[in-house]
Amino acid sequence: MGITLDYTSPVSRTRELRRKPASVTGAILLGDPTAFDIRWAINAHMLTESGTLQSVDHARSRAQWSALRSTCERLGFRVLVLPSAPGLCDQVFVANPAFPFSDPVSGAPSVLLSHMRHAERQREPELLGEFLCGQGVRVVRCDTADSFEGTGDLLTVPGQRLLFGGLGPRSERVGLEEAARVADADLVLLRLPDPRYYHLDTCLAFLDARTALWVPEAFPEEERRLLVALIPRLLTVPGTEGVDGFAGNAYCPDGRHVLLDVAARETTALLAREGFVPVPLDTSEFRKSGGSVFCLKLALPAPR
Ligand code: ARG
Repeated sequence: MGITLDYTSPVSRTRELRRKPASVTGAILLGDPTAFDIRWAINAHMLTESGTLQSVDHARSRAQWSALRSTCERLGFRVLVLPSAPGLCDQVFVANPAFPFSDPVSGAPSVLLSHMRHAERQREPELLGEFLCGQGVRVVRCDTADSFEGTGDLLTVPGQRLLFGGLGPRSERVGLEEAARVADADLVLLRLPDPRYYHLDTCLAFLDARTALWVPEAFPEEERRLLVALIPRLLTVPGTEGVDGFAGNAYCPDGRHVLLDVAARETTALLAREGFVPVPLDTSEFRKSGGSVFCLKLALPAPR
């Protein structure tokens, strides 16, 4: 199984660097929400209890997205915005079409493009790759036919060469293993049998090198034991906030601030007690599509 590296020619690369001196290292990518909508159901959250498609309030989703953007900027991050493509209703969830990593040899900020499970999202990785290539990111393709949905199912432990991969409805073993090989990291695979937790990022969120927030009910017994053994400080999402508040989809960009949905009130209190600074954000329109803060962003690798 091979990989293909996509380099721009040395000449255009030099021009690119001169034209864009700002570094992408440590930047946060968000997806312009213009095309965001719910026109298909590829996860359980996208349907109402009566089985019809959820409906999006577009003014609200844009306002919620803008608040996420200004929060990232207020925390000191450079924000890149992927332009929206008409008809790609799920493209705003930029966590899924790629997996970012630092090149194991050169340290260059890199992404491995995903293979999306559903036809509705299969154009997204190429569009994201083109955009990131133009920003000076090294773009890598993986030849396996297995599906693999980026940081939706592959979580990096901050500051370590260790990855946790979700084997569920969206990502298969070979795709995850190939990503770990490209990033030169160890991989722990976790089965995801519950359709409500269809991506690993819906039930596990690393906050710092030793701490993670998790939703135990999402995992089989064996996986629970493994996580307890491997993660020094595991904070359990209280009550039903894993589903009702998408608390497992929290995002901690700096080891301190934790961005999470405002509906996860008890989780917010727990994080504050544990010494983190919770930043509640309303992502209710995006939750209807099965996503919250973590999957609305792609964090480019920090300096090594
Ligand atoms: N509607 C999108 C999908 O089903 C939501 C993706 C949310 N992303 C995530 N990493 N949980 O693909």
